[in-house]
Formats: sequence, C-alpha cells, structure tokens
Amino acid sequence: MCGIFGCLCEGAPSILLQGLKRLEYRGYDSVGIALINGKDLVVEKNKGKIDEFISGLDEARLKGEIGVGHTRWATHGAPSKENAHPHLDCSKRIAVVHNGVLENFLQIKEELVRRGHTFSSRTDSEVIPHLIEEYMNEGLTLKDALIKSMERVKGSAAIAVISTVEPNKIFCYRRESPLIVGIGDNGVFCASDIPAIMPYTRRVMVVPEDRLVILERGSIHVEDLKGVTYETEFTEITWDLELAEKGGYPHFMIKEIFEQPRAIRDTLKIPTVFLDKAARLMRGRIYLIGSGTSYHACLSTSYTASALIDMEMRPVISSEFADALLSLEDSTVIAVSQSGETADTLNAVKHAKSKGARIVGITNTLGSSITTLSDAYICTQSGPEIGVAATKTFLTQLVALDLLLLRLGLISGKLSEPEHDLITKELSNLPGMVEQILSRSNRVKDLALKYSTKENAFFLGRGANVATALEGALKLKEISYIHAEGYPAGESKHGPISLVEPNFLCVFIAPRDRTRDRIIGNIMEMKARGAEVFSVITEGDKELKEISDEYFEVPISSEILYPILCTVPLQLLAYYAATFRGFDPDKPRNLAKSVTVL
Ligand code: AGP
Repeated sequence: MCGIFGCLCEGAPSILLQGLKRLEYRGYDSVGIALINGKDLVVEKNKGKIDEFISGLDEARLKGEIGVGHTRWATHGAPSKENAHPHLDCSKRIAVVHNGVLENFLQIKEELVRRGHTFSSRTDSEVIPHLIEEYMNEGLTLKDALIKSMERVKGSAAIAVISTVEPNKIFCYRRESPLIVGIGDNGVFCASDIPAIMPYTRRVMVVPEDRLVILERGSIHVEDLKGVTYETEFTEITWDLELAEKGGYPHFMIKEIFEQPRAIRDTLKIPTVFLDKAARLMRGRIYLIGSGTSYHACLSTSYTASALIDMEMRPVISSEFADALLSLEDSTVIAVSQSGETADTLNAVKHAKSKGARIVGITNTLGSSITTLSDAYICTQSGPEIGVAATKTFLTQLVALDLLLLRLGLISGKLSEPEHDLITKELSNLPGMVEQILSRSNRVKDLALKYSTKENAFFLGRGANVATALEGALKLKEISYIHAEGYPAGESKHGPISLVEPNFLCVFIAPRDRTRDRIIGNIMEMKARGAEVFSVITEGDKELKEISDEYFEVPISSEILYPILCTVPLQLLAYYAATFRGFDPDKPRNLAKSVTVL
C-alpha cells in the first residue's frame, strides 16, 4: 500500500519529509511532496528512495506551512517520476495524494480526456485532481467538488488534498484504506498510519469509514458526504514506534495475515481489461511456474483450471523448469512471483522466452523484473509484504489466478456468462469469509500452543488441497522449525505412514469438496497408527468432527474457495507455533524475502 502524509504547521517542509521517512518501512518505490508557498504550489517527486530524493531537493523552493507527501507502492503504472504522487489538475492548483485502488478510473479518465484534460501518468489516482477540477469548473466549491468526485470514483481511497484555492486547509477523505489524523501543539496532521505523526502528536483519531475531514490551523472538522458533522474523538497513543509500525500487532506476519480481507478486496478490483489482455495470450500448452509458496499457487491453480474450465495447465517448480525439457512450442508460461525478482523464476522465464513462449506474469511488485519480461502481467493488490513468510501475497495470487481463469473461461466459451457471474459473485464473499475465520484466531492459537512441542508433522490433502497441505507445511517448517511435510493424502500408505507412531501430528485439509469422502479413509489409516489428527473442515461437518482429535471449521463455500479459506488457519498455526517456540516469525533463520540467487 502507499503511504500518505499531510501537515499544517510551522516547519512543514522538513516535517513532511520526516513523516515520509517514518512510512518507509511500509515499502515503496517512489516518493513526492507538494507545498503551498504563497500563491504557488511547489511539487517535487521522483522514483527511488527518500534519502536520494531529499539529496536532490532545492531547499530554497521548499517553503510554506502546509503540504502533503506520498510514498508510492505501485499498483497501476510502473514506478516512475510521472507516476509518483502528488498528482495535479491541469491548472496546477490542486495536489492530491492517494492510497488505494480505484476500480472505475479508466472510464472516468476517458471521459475527462474527452473534456480536454491532459494526464501525465498511467495511475488510477490521477483522475482525482482532474475530477475535482472539472466539478470546480462547473461552479462547485473545492469541498463540494471533492465530495462529488469521491461519490463518483469506486474503490478504496485514503486521500489528502491541498489547493491554492483554499491554501489554509487540508481536505482528507477515507474509504477502506487507512487514514489517521492528529492535532498537536504545533499543528494538525494526517497520515496512513500512526508512526508518521507520532513525533508531533499522540492525540490521534482513526478516521471512520466514508468521512471527509478538514484540517485547519488548530482544528479538525469531520463530516460525511451528505454534510452531517461528527464529533472528533481523539485517543492517546501509548505505543512505541516499533509497535506502531506494525499497527499494534507484535509482528508484521500477523499484521499481514489480518490484512488479507483488505488485500483480497483490493485484488478483486483488478480491472477486467488487464485480466483479458493476459487471458487472450493463454493458448497452446500452458505451464504455471513458481518457487516456494508461489509454486503452491501454481499447483492449486492447475486443479482449479481443470475443474472450472476443463483446461490442462501444468505446474512446474521454477528451478526444475529448464531441466524438465518440456516442449515449449506454441506455449504460454504463467510465471508467479510476489517479489517478481526470484532468480529461479526469472531464469525459467528467460528460458521459456528463448523458445518462443508467451509469458504472463502474476506479481505483487509492479516494476519488478518479471513485469519487464512478461507479454502481459497482473499485479495483485496485497501491498508490500514485510514478513519473510508469504501470507497475504499467497491468497491474492490464488484470487488473481481464479479471476484470470474466469476470464479465460468466458473468452474461450468454456464458461457461460451466468456461470462466470455466479462464481465471480462467490469470490466477492471471500473477504467476509476470511474475516470470519480470523475472528476465531484464538482457537488456532490454543491448538498452536498444544502442538508447539511437536518435532514432526504431516500436512495431508487431496485435489487442490494437496497444494494447501504443501503450503501449510512450508509455513510451519519455515518459521517454527518443526519438521513438517506436505503430501497428497492418498500417498500416505506408499511410505510416509511408516513414520507415524502414537501422537504423531497429522494435519488434514478436509473441506466438504469432491475429495472429502476419500480423505476420511486416509484419516482413519493414520488414526489406526495412533496419529494425533487435526482437521480443517467445513462448518458443521459432524462426521469429520467425530473422527478428528481437534478441528477448525471454515465457512461453507463453493469448492473453488476452499484452498484459500483452508490456508488461513494454517498460516495462524505456523505463526503462533513459532512465537510459542520463541522464534521471530518475521525473520526466520537462513531465509530471505526474495531469493535473487540461483
Ligand atoms: C514463502 O513463505 C517463502 N518466503 C518462499 O518460499 C517464497 O514463496 C519463494 O521464495 C518465492 O518468492 P516469490 O513469490 O517472490 O517468487
């Protein structure tokens, strides 16, 4: 996610830059500021890191007591000076910084271009200042033009707006993306999260959903888009900086696990035009390649492709791709990598390209190497993932790949419009279902305490949940150092079961899908050898409850959603087991967030 910061105070230029520095930990690829200096709007922005940005600034230009700043994590439009925020209107009177994902920006942009507006970026955010300008040209005040603009744009948005039209106010608005405001002795402040304004005030208010906030010297005014005003309710922040950077969570990993509903919600907003461009490349032999968790997304998707649109897509581990000597004639390679920089995957992509394959990239990092190597790419909307263990980026990979399969199914005729729309509707329920699971995280925490003394575990699933089993085992082993192995449940009797002795932990992913009845037999096999069985099951499945020693229920859903839903308790299990065993889940030994070596 991007980071926004605004201040109305003495020393605004340096406070603006310090505020952005405190947002750095969120991850970003470009940075910018805007200040009102008398009648002028001074804007400086560039791709790159804050320190090099600051070193290139002309301090003499940076004057004034009101400004906004932005650290950008690219979602639409690669990292570049033009795509960096703040974005301005044509008349250069309005500066906007935005954190979020606008769904309908393309049609708004086309309309504004028809009305004579010129755009300088490829971002979704730039439509906001031009829309405000358009409504002001129709005679609306800045505030009313902002309200009308935010009613028009769809999608998540936390914005801060300054203008030479009303040079003593910062206008903010919040929908889904986080926004904090604060008032201190020296001024008033707004930011994406608390660390940025902590040095200047600990009296803060988390802006409620769908509220317009107007910051003026010494006052903060809150109203909704209908003009109803609300009391400003401040709280005193007692956190230290480190805790504040994690949003009050003890580790980034657990914060990111709990961000998954928002990340999925934002990923579900990927414009169809980007999905269709990728879908139209997918013909001939189709391979899905990735490493680690990203490979698990490939494996899971290969099952979904067969079940949903009757298409065979072969999952291949990136480091094995070249050695597999696969035929790449008339082929398409879907390369999955949240960092977009994994050397094994980039190497496999280059090999495929050398044989003439078409490349579709699925990544969380716009501007990464994989996007430059791809003929088309889809960017998941997780926002930066700081924890080394992949969590929210895995779920949004599955969501993005499901969206891609749905579009491919429609375009190829494998799915009718009603079938496509029905499954799309089911996907829209996913954020709420994940929220339900997260609301019962203490149930998993109790189980993790119980299992934290284990030294071995099997994770077993069937069908697409073989991938879920592999992912659950990887999570547990990579951060708690319990030796966990994922297997197809049907494989148990071909060897693995020899390890099972009384109290050997077997985690079964056993939702009510087409494989449920067969997995019951596998559970009984393990129980007969004294295994301790923990099952992830569909709500209300009495039979599974009876045969499992412990269970965790996920909401009833269609089959396509179970690999996503069943992963969440396994992420929590790994996280809590690691903390109970005294390890730092964010920085597991021997691992890097992005493995850029072969
Ligand atoms: C997953 O928790 C690990 N951090 C690791 O397996 C990771 O998924 C793998 O290195 C691939 O990374 P990528 O998605 O950035 O390509």
